[in-house]
Amino acid sequence: TASTKDILSAAIRSIPDYPKPGIIFRDITTLLGDAQAFRLAVDELVKPYEGLGVDKIAGMEARGFILGGAMAHQLSAGFVPIRKKGKLPYRTVSMAYALEYGTDEMEIHVDAVKPGEKVILCDDLIATGGTAVGAVQLLRQIGAEVVSACFVIDLPDLGGRKKLEALGVEVRVLAE
Ligand code: PRP
Ligand code: HPA
Repeated sequence: TASTKDILSAAIRSIPDYPKPGIIFRDITTLLGDAQAFRLAVDELVKPYEGLGVDKIAGMEARGFILGGAMAHQLSAGFVPIRKKGKLPYRTVSMAYALEYGTDEMEIHVDAVKPGEKVILCDDLIATGGTAVGAVQLLRQIGAEVVSACFVIDLPDLGGRKKLEALGVEVRVLAE
């Protein structure tokens, strides 16, 4: 029988040369549109965190919102959006970061977590880790305890997981 990893991997498609030549883009919209695969992914993401008293899931724009929102509901936790610059209406702290195909700037509301709250970071994919490292720094700046970070897909050749672990953050991934 197929493993969870096999089912999830089969539900994700790869698009060559998107958004730039040479990048093979892992497209999770096919996974999200498959009721069984979407439920399986969310169930597997939340499993290690059940009963830990997680206060909030922080999701990274844009695909981290979809998975992180579902995780937050399942764990009865709050949800915190980490957004691209200029989208959050209240006072923010911001961070420039690099990713596989460019650079950008992300922000979080200054009062999105209370000091010491246990937060789990969520996104669809970790590549270079630029986005996730920036997100951990933002969360720590506003006083969060970043308990763990989780992703559906890791691209291990790009080294993001190791960068996060070097910051003392546990990393969980479902597929490569
Ligand atoms: C993708 C992905 C992660 C990030 C991973 O988002 O969803 O957030 O890149 O790359 P990294 O590990 O090299 O930082 P993207 O920046 O394309 O934004 P989007 O979800 O808003 O399209
Ligand atoms: N898919 C989605 N997001 C990404 C990818 C990818 O292959 N690479 C870097 N960010």
